[in-house]
Amino acid sequence: MLVSVNFLKMNKTTVRSLYDARSVLVLINRKYSQKQDDFFKFYSDNGAFYGNHEPLTEQDYNRFFSKRSLRREPALTREMTKLAYKVGKDVISLAEGMPNEGVFPFTRIDIELKGGGRLITEGKELSAALQYIPSQGMPSLLSELRTFQQDLHRPPPLPQPRDVIVTNGGQHGIYQCFDLLLEEGDPIIATEYTYTGAYVALKPYRPEIIGIPEDENGMIPETLELVLTDRLSRGMKMPKMLYVIPTGSNPSGTVLPEDRRRKIYELACRFNFLIIEDDPYVFLNYNETNVPTFLSLDTCGRVIRIDSLSKVVSAGLRAGWVTAPKVVQQKLELHMQTELLHSCTLSQMILHHIISHRDSLASHLKAGRDLYRRRRDALSIAVQGVTDLADWSLPQAGLFFWLRVRGVEDIYNMVFRTAFQRGLMVVPGQAFSYDTSAPCQYVRLTFSRISYEDMDIAVRHLADIIKEEQQLTLQNQPQRLATER
Ligand SMILES: Cc1ncc(COP(=O)(O)O)c(C=O)c1O
Repeated sequence: MLVSVNFLKMNKTTVRSLYDARSVLVLINRKYSQKQDDFFKFYSDNGAFYGNHEPLTEQDYNRFFSKRSLRREPALTREMTKLAYKVGKDVISLAEGMPNEGVFPFTRIDIELKGGGRLITEGKELSAALQYIPSQGMPSLLSELRTFQQDLHRPPPLPQPRDVIVTNGGQHGIYQCFDLLLEEGDPIIATEYTYTGAYVALKPYRPEIIGIPEDENGMIPETLELVLTDRLSRGMKMPKMLYVIPTGSNPSGTVLPEDRRRKIYELACRFNFLIIEDDPYVFLNYNETNVPTFLSLDTCGRVIRIDSLSKVVSAGLRAGWVTAPKVVQQKLELHMQTELLHSCTLSQMILHHIISHRDSLASHLKAGRDLYRRRRDALSIAVQGVTDLADWSLPQAGLFFWLRVRGVEDIYNMVFRTAFQRGLMVVPGQAFSYDTSAPCQYVRLTFSRISYEDMDIAVRHLADIIKEEQQLTLQNQPQRLATER
């Protein structure tokens, strides 16, 4: 019939230009909401980043895309699903491969929320929540997310408008971004120690990691500048991207202050790289004053922002989304078409409910932040038990204490041998190092779930274990047993 025959006859360019006509400009054209709670304010009153740098043009992005991602083509059937959602009921379709809703064995989903809200889905709504949807995401969720991002970050307008894509959590966005941007052997900037999931996603690309050290305020921009200047002067390959966890870095718990973010953004413009802003702890900043996000500073279209509600709403829902210049988002969408078709519709329906009830979400997030802050403070008291044995600074956000153990060159054996024997689990710093075989003095302690009573016991064990390991180090024991790897 009409839709199937006619669209199949169209060439790809015509089909794509039709999609481009949809309301993606929402992100830049929307009026700011009047009622703005400071809790949801992630932009600066000083404005975005304004330097002498031009925004990237569509062609400029080609330097960043991997050859692999440039070879991706739209799946026409997926593109038609997107069209079908756009045109709605006005067409008769013989086109899509959707299952008949009559075979779904569900009649009603009823979810009660802690705050008293309720999400009941039945009938046509339920059928829709169990169906295939466009790869970018559920249209109603997409428009809600566009508004959400606009209100929270107020990103400066770009010639290349931005858009969002719904992912299966933040890890999925990270993986897709790496696949989009990296060729084998490419250099990439990250903090010296960073999220394991990022490093393991990077491994197959065999990148050269430019690991920038952190202090108690996160990545040190002056060091980054020196390293980049040096590489440039020596004619070395320059990085295309920087991966950063700006709020509550995993593992270090640091929050990058606004001046550092501005400096790093300026370096991105000067040395021509993109910033992957992975920010799952953005709502868990215990300082209460939010720091403007990289997205909010992004005058040149250099930021790909990854959001996730895993730590504050549910990890199992896999609720995440990426906000990026349209040209980047479209490439991620092609990846999504081949990889997943789309992330789970049912989860997206729940996410839609959560995001669109902004006041309840704010109360929920504040309560979550308070819960985690109490736990951080409790572990902070408990961990005084290793004051003479380790160094750390109080985590400013996120879920982790990052301890440098004194007098032990490599904590690997300590974690896997001594600590396990005593029934204590901590994460060895190697888990956050690209080179997991390198000696490391750090351990990560998580305060999110351990009971308050166990905190003291755990730290007492830790103190004993460190002392034991320090003795072994003095006796020159082998640092790591090969069989334990
Ligand atoms: C920095 C960082 N990014 C991403 C993730 C993955 O989160 P998600 O559950 O959204 O995939 C984590 C999880 O620990 C994380 O710490």
